[in-house]
Amino acid sequence: MRFAFRRGQRLPRLWWKAAVVATLVLCSAAASAQDDFSYGRRLYLDKAQCSYCHGWAGDGAGDGQSNGGAANLRQSRLNRAQLITIILCGRPGTAMPHFDEAAYSDKRCYGMTEADVGKLKPSLPPGSTLQPREAEAVADYLLEKFVGRGAITRTECEESFGKNARACGEYAAKP
Ligand code: HEC
Repeated sequence: MRFAFRRGQRLPRLWWKAAVVATLVLCSAAASAQDDFSYGRRLYLDKAQCSYCHGWAGDGAGDGQSNGGAANLRQSRLNRAQLITIILCGRPGTAMPHFDEAAYSDKRCYGMTEADVGKLKPSLPPGSTLQPREAEAVADYLLEKFVGRGAITRTECEESFGKNARACGEYAAKP
């Protein structure tokens, strides 16, 4: 079906409505992409399960079952590129796993192959591996929510677990 509009002809009413709705949807999607970190948070907490070792707030207080010793990400001094590298490649010789499934299959990680890294090769993660763009979203989440932050706040807890989550009462309302 083809529509031919003569110049000056008005768009049918319904079309205008559809156009307005579409514009609103696009605008709100763009706005949420800027200030909504729920995607990164979901990757951190659920898909990649970083929280299993690092804790939900990144302070290093992970699950009792984890091997412990995970870094306090709130005190990290790494920049975005370094964070992405460590997420994808892990840290050789430590319990920090590599989230790029193909890490060390070529020289993409620190210029080292499997043979180069040998016994120090980081393990696969306990949860899912990540695509590079997912690792970027996690790095942005870390930078926005954890790095350089002091004590965990109640607001932060409620952002992760919902407003009025009972467990969040133990954190001070203000830092
Ligand atoms: C199996 C446990 C485990 C999991 C799962 C894990 N980590 Fe780690 N991570 C560690 C340990 C242990 C270290 C400390 C390594 C060391 O000793 O240098 C670490 C270090 C780091 C560092 C370096 C911090 C710094 O400043 O040196 C970053 C960043 C990091 N992890 C991010 C993540 C992210 C993001 C995830 C999820 C995508 C994740 N980790 C999943 C155990 C884990």
